[in-house]
Amino acid sequence: MDILITEEEINEKVAQLGSLISQDYAQVRDLVIVAVLRGSVYFAVDLSRQLSIPFTLDFIGISSYGTSSDPLGIVRITKDLDTNIAQKNVLLIEDIVDTGLTLNYLLKNLRTRNPLSLRVCTFLDMPGRRIAPVPVDYRGFEMENCFVVGYGLDYNGRYRNLKEIAALK
Ligand code: IMP
Ligand code: MG
Repeated sequence: MDILITEEEINEKVAQLGSLISQDYAQVRDLVIVAVLRGSVYFAVDLSRQLSIPFTLDFIGISSYGTSSDPLGIVRITKDLDTNIAQKNVLLIEDIVDTGLTLNYLLKNLRTRNPLSLRVCTFLDMPGRRIAPVPVDYRGFEMENCFVVGYGLDYNGRYRNLKEIAALK
């Protein structure tokens, strides 16, 4: 495994994102942080602890059909939000935006619930692999096209607990 992003670099970036988001949302009421299960949990927890503003935390669980090399863009909600996000300011937390198909589906779904605002914060962004154009408001790291694990990202359910981001060979 090749380490691409170290634990130190991750911590530094998460702290930066935390203060940026805290500034941007300083005047905003009713912020709901929505973490997408399961990959983004590690990032969402670390990021949320860097926020100096009030918010509530909720989770949405999804499962995608197809494989990472042949994504179908069909997503099923396996665990819905417990929060009614109508008239709330929603910040969606993703681990990685790759083809964008998952995020595209999620945004369409969440928009039908009439949030006051809806923004996206992703830990990793691979714009070179995009199939669906999606808005990304906050990103940790932009990466080249490769399959990565660690910091919540898995391969067949493994490696989520790696403290670094690594490329699987
Ligand atoms: P997308 O729909 O292609 O943008 O990616 C959807 C999901 O696939 C992400 O939320 C991840 O769970 C997973 N995924 C995509 N690329 C990677 C990767 O490089 N490593 C681990 N999981 C990935
Ligand atoms: Mg995911």
